[in-house]
Amino acid sequence: MYQITLATSNKHKVDEINLIAKDYDVEFVLPVGEFDPVEDSDNFIGNAYCKAKCASLNASTDYVLADDSGLCVQALKGAPGIYSARYAKSADERIKKLLFNMKDKKDRNAEFVCAMVVVNKKGEILFKTEQTCEGSIMYEPKGKGGFGYDPIFFVKSENKGMAELTDLEKSKISHRAKALNCVLNWLKENK
Ligand code: IMP
Repeated sequence: MYQITLATSNKHKVDEINLIAKDYDVEFVLPVGEFDPVEDSDNFIGNAYCKAKCASLNASTDYVLADDSGLCVQALKGAPGIYSARYAKSADERIKKLLFNMKDKKDRNAEFVCAMVVVNKKGEILFKTEQTCEGSIMYEPKGKGGFGYDPIFFVKSENKGMAELTDLEKSKISHRAKALNCVLNWLKENK
């Protein structure tokens, strides 16, 4: 099994990414030692690179993968975007704030975006990609699965709320799944 460091301190994210990659001979592992990146870019790729470079400093693996994702809402000019995690204090409050800001909006179009960057131990970028999952903002939360903004995101391709999908269903259609599949295809040729 080929190991790759995933630049995150979130064990849930490692599990989600390993589920998407389950048919490949690769295992994503948490960084060793301190991992405290400063994300100071104004875009997803830039912030993913900040995380990747930070984790590459102590990396025990040849490659480091980092991702950065968020929800972009058309009627809110792309907000919360790169600020998705910081839009309000808790997940519940973030959903309430978004629904409040959307209360008079007819255009409900939105997309989840996921950027992924692969670097080597020197922190040099080897591969990058940005993928989306298209949908719209619902009028109220629905479903019990997923995390973050999933309860209010209607997935166009599935005709269902993101939180109504099982983890396995989400792992086939999500923005993260699409980005990771690009990375896995690149790895097949380059590891
Ligand atoms: P991160 O960059 O992957 O940590 O994501 C930043 C924030 O975007 C998360 O804290 C969530 O609020 C939101 N987000 C990213 N991906 C998803 C998803 O698949 N479902 C729901 N919310 C997400």
